[in-house]
Amino acid sequence: MSARAIWQALLGLLLLTQGECMKRNVADGSSPPASTDLQAARRQQMVADLRQQGIRDESVLRAMSVVPRHRFVPERLQGVAYEDSALPIEHGQTISQPFVVAHMTELLQLKGRERVLEIGTGSGYQAAVLAELAGEVYSIEIVPELAAQARRLLAELGYTKVHVRQGDGYLGWPEQAPFDRILLTAAPEEVPQTLIDQLAMGGRLVAPVGGWAQEIVVLDRKPEGITRRTTIPVRFVPMVHGR
Ligand SMILES: C[S@@+](CC[C@H](N)C(=O)[O-])C[C@H]1O[C@@H](n2cnc3c(N)ncnc32)[C@H](O)[C@@H]1O
Repeated sequence: MSARAIWQALLGLLLLTQGECMKRNVADGSSPPASTDLQAARRQQMVADLRQQGIRDESVLRAMSVVPRHRFVPERLQGVAYEDSALPIEHGQTISQPFVVAHMTELLQLKGRERVLEIGTGSGYQAAVLAELAGEVYSIEIVPELAAQARRLLAELGYTKVHVRQGDGYLGWPEQAPFDRILLTAAPEEVPQTLIDQLAMGGRLVAPVGGWAQEIVVLDRKPEGITRRTTIPVRFVPMVHGR
């Protein structure tokens, strides 16, 4: 048995005990804690793994070391919340893989004051990571129940910089445009022109783009025009059109 397997088995045992504590907490009528020692330890291991996988931006690693990902997944999956995999959330959607969240966030090169638009709030996890790094975060989710749930959880966790709107991300958020950064976490066939139009001069848009085969696209708006490059292949849920 490898050292990592032994470590994970020990964490699993601890989780069983902690699970009981959390049940008592809920039965008391109080909210579950934002984090437990066990979940914090798992989160630090996730961050160490991200570093090993090549994530270099210390501010991104720091953000992901404080956002309690286990609170953004269904309760039955909290034990695997810090594994490097996408996980199912309600309404047939997913919370993205930590490595992909880290990679896309790193590409945004956030310095702390930016106004960021996210398309595809989902669980709200990526929005929380962005809130740790940017000025204001505007996030659009097409499924009303997911938008409401994410709004509630983000408020409970104190993420007052995140503004969640239920709507069709293809339309963007014109009342709050232009944005310094735009991040799509659902995949369109091509980057919607409406979103490019809402990108500030000097701004950057990062998106998974494609159908069956998708890759991360990075668009930069410069005075001389829009530049485009791609990074890694990915697999996101499609960005659907509003009805
Ligand atoms: C991979 S999940 C996003 C994960 C999310 N960022 C998180 O941190 O949990 C993609 C989300 O995009 C949403 N979505 C798909 N098409 C959309 C659209 N046109 N406008 C807004 N949200 C959309 C889906 O409902 C889903 O919740």
